[in-house]
Amino acid sequence: MPLVTTKEMFEKAKKGGYAIGAFNINNMEIIQGITEACKELNAPVILQVSSSAIKYARPAYLMHMVNAAVEETGLPIVLHLDHGADFEICKQAVDLGFTSVMIDASKYDFEENVALTKQVVEYAHSKGVVVEAELGKLAGIEDDVNVDEKDSAYTNPEQALEFVERTGCDSLAVAIGTSHGAYKFKGDAELKFDVLRKIVEKLPENYPLVLHGASSVLPEYVERCNNAGGKIPGAKGVPEEMLREAARNGICKINVDTDLRLAMTTAIREQFNEDPSCIDPRKYLGVARDSIKELVKNKIKVALGCEGQA
Ligand code: G3H
Ligand code: 13P
Ligand code: ZN
Repeated sequence: MPLVTTKEMFEKAKKGGYAIGAFNINNMEIIQGITEACKELNAPVILQVSSSAIKYARPAYLMHMVNAAVEETGLPIVLHLDHGADFEICKQAVDLGFTSVMIDASKYDFEENVALTKQVVEYAHSKGVVVEAELGKLAGIEDDVNVDEKDSAYTNPEQALEFVERTGCDSLAVAIGTSHGAYKFKGDAELKFDVLRKIVEKLPENYPLVLHGASSVLPEYVERCNNAGGKIPGAKGVPEEMLREAARNGICKINVDTDLRLAMTTAIREQFNEDPSCIDPRKYLGVARDSIKELVKNKIKVALGCEGQA
């Protein structure tokens, strides 16, 4: 099976009340760890790449490694551009053979976001590629801003339908209280399920929504990492049961990068502590790959609910 788009995946996910994991990839071990986990649990998967990851891995290596995973697993796999900042980056991904792109124009005002998203949709659709867009602002929600400012950063349910209709985007990333990275909440974790429900109400039935900044930053990983010499005190993510709840309430793509970084880094730190004389990259990258695989298997079972859905 060649790379697929998210269209059919999302239709099935919506009906089944589960979500697809969208995992950020940067190198071979990360791709292998993720796709081996999906293969073992027969789960569909989205491999997503930021523009800095495309620069890091380089386009030809990236395409060949992802196609190798497709060939080896036989799973439905989507190759998605994460946070495309402008038309040119999105066009580059479409031309490389990505099957899905995100245009993230959420930092612009509504009209500019509509215009840029529409331009990307027109090009991507002409090549059979689907488009994710974003409405609302993720970053800074947890910073010291007052309640009015906080509310204005969440996705506005009243604008969601107009945005989707005018742009023709295939899925929409929403801001409901998450943020990127390892420090998402100062106090208790809180997702705005009321905002999510209002967005779902306004949009056409079964319209696919996306949750960014969805890593759980599990305390056991943080503790292991810190015990092995890491310094990430106070790191906190979105509890897995909230992700499951989001998946039952309209979210069908859940984005995870920080959890992969943490799992990988923890395993490498532990490996060097255990054997300080280790200079074989296959040892420390091997344990990193295994750690990613274990993390993704757990994510599929506990947070996503997409086991057996490939
Ligand atoms: O949301 C962004 C992802 O975590 C990718 O981050 O640009 O450092 O690859 P990156
Ligand atoms: P995390 O930082 O929570 O893993 O979010 C990743 C993400 O949203 C990638 O687009
Ligand atoms: Zn993101």
